Amino acid sequence: MNITSGTEEEVTMDEIGTITDFIQDEAGHGLYLYSAMETLGKSRDQSLQELIDGKAKYSSIFNYPTTSWADIGAIGWLVDGAAIVNQVALQRTSYGPYARAMVKICKEESFHQRQGFEIMMTLANGTKAQKQMAQEALNKIWWPALMMFGPSDKESVHSQKSMAWKIKRQSNDELRQEFVDMTVPQAELLGLTIPDPDLKFNKKTGHYDFGPINWDEFYAVIHGHGPCNKERLEARRKAQEEGEWVKEAALAHAKKQRNLNAA
Ligand SMILES: [Fe+2]
Ligand SMILES: [Fe+2]
Repeated sequence: MNITSGTEEEVTMDEIGTITDFIQDEAGHGLYLYSAMETLGKSRDQSLQELIDGKAKYSSIFNYPTTSWADIGAIGWLVDGAAIVNQVALQRTSYGPYARAMVKICKEESFHQRQGFEIMMTLANGTKAQKQMAQEALNKIWWPALMMFGPSDKESVHSQKSMAWKIKRQSNDELRQEFVDMTVPQAELLGLTIPDPDLKFNKKTGHYDFGPINWDEFYAVIHGHGPCNKERLEARRKAQEEGEWVKEAALAHAKKQRNLNAA
């Protein structure tokens, strides 16, 4: 990945720091959610195996490529921004372990969102090439970010049941609208253009109207045919295989410590 910010040849330590913080937090989010799953009787190993076997669902957004430093900014700003809108509502979900995990996750996501926005701000106020890099990243991530909220309420298979059980507290379309209303003024502040010719503030409703979403793309992505599905799952598989010895060593060390303590 080209991680440089557009003017410098070298990757800066700040840039490396930003991205490693991100990765550490996100790995933590995965573990909180797997822990919530454990309370329902499914072990972490099982959950991980299902992911690797391609059986588990995961967010559609993880199947899109990141090729520039601006993509990291746009993902923080938009993807974490969309995640916050979704997850703030989930803090009030009816299942306690899930709701409690969301509290910490939301705090971290809002940090990522600001960090991403700051990266975009730096690029948007930088050289012409940097601003263009930021615009291209916005063009690339905007629609996939809107798709993150899932199909329209009319099409969503699980929505009704999830709403009845109070697992979901707001519908996909409501959350999507909330995200658009929150994000459009931020794009204006950056001086970037949202790639939607139909986007327009509607004085009557007090919300932004936006153009149609390409649901064919969304369904292709969730059924395994997105730009990076194979590559991303392959990376998980490889990490599992190549990290096996680390787990074995950690378990052996823990056993040794237990024996020492018992002696
Ligand atoms: Fe996260
Ligand atoms: Fe995040």
